[in-house]
Amino acid sequence: MASFSLAVAVVRSNNITTDQSALLALKAHITDDPYNFLTSNWSTSTSVCNWIGISCGAKHQRVTALNLTHMGLTGTIPPHVGNLSFLTHLSFRNNSFHGSLPNQLASLRRLEVVSFGMNNFSGELPSWLGFFPKLQVLYAYSNSFSGSIPLSLYSNASSLQIIHLGENMLSGMIPRSLGNCTSLKEIHLDDNYLTGELPLEIGNLQNLMEITLANNSLTGTIPNAIFNISTIEVISLYLNQFSGQLPLSIGHWLPNLKELYLWDNELKGIIPNSISNASKLTQLELGNLSTSLEEFFAFNCNIKGIIPVGIGNLSNMMALHLEDNELAGPIPSTVGGMRNLQGLFLQHNRLQGSIPIDIDLSWNQLSGDIPTSIGGLDSLANLSIAHNKFQGPIPQSFDKLISMVFLDLSHNNFSGVIPKSLMELKYLKYFNVSFNRLQGEIPFGGVIGKFSAQSFMGNEALCGPPQLQVPPCKSSNIGHSKTDAERDMNKLKIQGDLLPLATWRRISYFELELATYGFSESNLVGKGSFGSVYRGTLSDRSSVAVKVFNLNIEGGFKSFEAECDVLCRIRHRNLVRIISSCSSMDFKALVLEFMPKGSLKKWLYSHNYFLDIQQRLNMMIDVASALEYLHHGCPLPVVHCDLKPNNILLNKDMVAHVSDFGISKLLGDEDSMTQTMTLATIGYMAPEYGSQGIISTRGDVYSYGILLMETFTRKSPTDEMFDGEMSLNRWVKESLPHAVIEVVDANLLKRGEDYFTAKLDCISSIHYENGYGLFNRGS
Ligand SMILES: *[C@@H]1O[C@H](CO)[C@@H](O)[C@H](O)[C@H]1NC(C)=O
Ligand SMILES: *[C@@H]1O[C@H](CO)[C@@H](O)[C@H](O)[C@H]1NC(C)=O
Ligand SMILES: *[C@@H]1O[C@H](CO)[C@@H](O)[C@H](O)[C@H]1NC(C)=O
Ligand SMILES: *[C@@H]1O[C@H](CO)[C@@H](O)[C@H](O)[C@H]1NC(C)=O
Ligand SMILES: *[C@@H]1O[C@H](CO)[C@@H](O)[C@H](O)[C@H]1NC(C)=O
Ligand SMILES: *[C@@H]1O[C@H](CO)[C@@H](O)[C@H](O)[C@H]1NC(C)=O
Ligand SMILES: *[C@@H]1O[C@H](CO)[C@@H](O)[C@H](O)[C@H]1NC(C)=O
Ligand SMILES: *[C@@H]1O[C@H](CO)[C@@H](O)[C@H](O)[C@H]1NC(C)=O
Repeated sequence: MASFSLAVAVVRSNNITTDQSALLALKAHITDDPYNFLTSNWSTSTSVCNWIGISCGAKHQRVTALNLTHMGLTGTIPPHVGNLSFLTHLSFRNNSFHGSLPNQLASLRRLEVVSFGMNNFSGELPSWLGFFPKLQVLYAYSNSFSGSIPLSLYSNASSLQIIHLGENMLSGMIPRSLGNCTSLKEIHLDDNYLTGELPLEIGNLQNLMEITLANNSLTGTIPNAIFNISTIEVISLYLNQFSGQLPLSIGHWLPNLKELYLWDNELKGIIPNSISNASKLTQLELGNLSTSLEEFFAFNCNIKGIIPVGIGNLSNMMALHLEDNELAGPIPSTVGGMRNLQGLFLQHNRLQGSIPIDIDLSWNQLSGDIPTSIGGLDSLANLSIAHNKFQGPIPQSFDKLISMVFLDLSHNNFSGVIPKSLMELKYLKYFNVSFNRLQGEIPFGGVIGKFSAQSFMGNEALCGPPQLQVPPCKSSNIGHSKTDAERDMNKLKIQGDLLPLATWRRISYFELELATYGFSESNLVGKGSFGSVYRGTLSDRSSVAVKVFNLNIEGGFKSFEAECDVLCRIRHRNLVRIISSCSSMDFKALVLEFMPKGSLKKWLYSHNYFLDIQQRLNMMIDVASALEYLHHGCPLPVVHCDLKPNNILLNKDMVAHVSDFGISKLLGDEDSMTQTMTLATIGYMAPEYGSQGIISTRGDVYSYGILLMETFTRKSPTDEMFDGEMSLNRWVKESLPHAVIEVVDANLLKRGEDYFTAKLDCISSIHYENGYGLFNRGS
């Protein structure tokens, strides 16, 4: 009987009434219930099992869950809560409870899920948290708990699956007994003051999916074992003092890894390639690479999302390959922060919006040509590439940069002319091309014309109006000749205008090899002492002549240099245009406009070809006009030195072009008469200059006279009939004016043919004087 009544007493001492009193005690400790969740609802007039936040077990009618999540409550937890002896779920999450946890809670032996997270609890985390045999989930994050994490938690709680104690003030070390929590799936201890090393026993946690220990003061190496846990999805260890290197095999055993954060540690060494085997990885943060990253390749990776704004902090990035992904949204304007960027590859994405408006790359060592594709940046307002080493021409395509307001190209190596097209930039407020190697006329009028001398200083040979403090431009139609002969040459009708300077780009050996079928015999169109000329077809299908210099012969290298030097500076419709050059230690080539009709020599002397009087006259005018330009229209006079039918090439319209500047000279002021000529062709060289080894523009004029005579007589000055006393020059001279018919090319003029007299008159009008061929009147 006594034993029976004792049993009843036990039952009575702990029934639903006990639970009710415990909850009413809790209600009494709540000092603020702003939304009145409990005020009227937790009333003794209804069963506790109907109260908000309360669940009861069906069998015992006892409180099994107390869930006050996110009710805005302020208060403390009274010891009475420890009487809710059937409680399995307890949550105070996201309120403003404060104070410490009463030890009486230790008697809640059935607890499985506990959350104190997101409150203002303080004091030490009690060791009894480790005494609940069925505890699976413990949330105590985002409070002010201090002290070390109780050992009991690690040692006893074999059923624990989730520990979340982040954002507290916990200190001390992570004990080796962590390895006992073999059921653990998640452990989050971020943002505390934990110290010491991460125990190797972490490798025992073979069910672990997430470990986040970021922002503590953990040291030592990261145990390799952590990278052997195949279930793991998230590893976040950033902002610690982990040191050493990552294991090379890091990626081999992480088939489920989605996120890896290791930045801001003291890790060193390489980023192991094997990481690419972690095929589910979506977040990889290896730290502050903001100044060290130079190249980044992530093309064709199915990357989705936007380009982060922080990309601009990669201040040393040189090549960023993000092409062939699924990036969307705008290109952040911060890309300009990548000041060393030489290649930004974003093609084949889904980017939208405008191009970031400013590009400031000034004060670098950037070099090379400006890609013409820059013209695509039509919303670019501000481009400063001053103080670099850019070279080549200012692209014509700059005229497409219609939004341009500020354009600073100063202190580079830009050459060629200022493209007239820049006058299209109607919003331009600042323009600076000072300190380059520009030449030619400063485009007058339009927007460029309004800038001052300060915008054009320190160039090689710009010309224009006096207020820009540059010399006046020489008109190509106005002569500046000193001799009668030269003045007379200027009477020649000058055909065509100067063309704008070519976009002179460099070309690779490989491109030339492709263009000429590997410099094959079948593409060879000429061979001389200087080297060989091949016909080629560039990738844009244009036909070119590739002149490959023979560097084995003496003067071969000089010849390339001379021709480059001259051709790069000059431009005329009757000069063969240079398209590109290719230069390395042991290979030098010029890529020239292809002249499909071959040389004047071929047309004069081959039986399959014939030139009529008009064609010959036109060609001679072409050559004269080229010479006049070389001698008077260039920044420095150019002496060709080797004018002869072989070097007069014809384009498809039979327009003559002077070619082969291999031995030409640029005449400065002092050296105009003193340079030695070595390689010019006998017969075309003025005797008085040749014998003294002196060259001048007059030498070219002499050669021109010989060329003129040869063209109409079809007799080369080296013909065998000209030996000893007789020369082409003398032969022609003696036949004039009455015996022209004796010397003129018999194919041109036959007695008795139609218009004989008119033709004879025409040819007779070609005079020569003192060895210099002249036209007496136009044709
Ligand atoms: C609970 O137990 C007390 C005695 O401890 C008793 O007075 C009360 O009637 C019991 N209540 C219920 C609902 O059994
Ligand atoms: C208390 O709240 C619960 C859950 O919202 C509700 O079902 C019950 O009717 C409420 N009781 C009272 C007395 O308001
Ligand atoms: C507590 O209630 C919230 C909703 O109010 C719910 O999301 C949460 O899962 C509950 N927690 C527990 C431990 O039952
Ligand atoms: C394990 O839990 C029991 C209570 O269940 C406790 O007495 C014991 O001290 C705990 N062991 C450790 C190592 O904390
Ligand atoms: C990253 O590194 C740079 C240079 O070393 C430093 O100035 C910057 O503060 C670092 N940023 C962070 C978030 O540590
Ligand atoms: C870039 O760097 C600046 C200054 O160092 C910093 O304030 C900013 O947060 C960084 N941006 C990103 C997205 O990292
Ligand atoms: C362009 O850049 C210059 C110099 O960096 C700056 O002074 C100016 O305000 C910028 N102008 C525009 C239109 O962005
Ligand atoms: C252009 O740049 C040069 C060199 O930096 C400078 O001296 C000059 O003042 C600049 N011109 C203008 C108009 O700002």
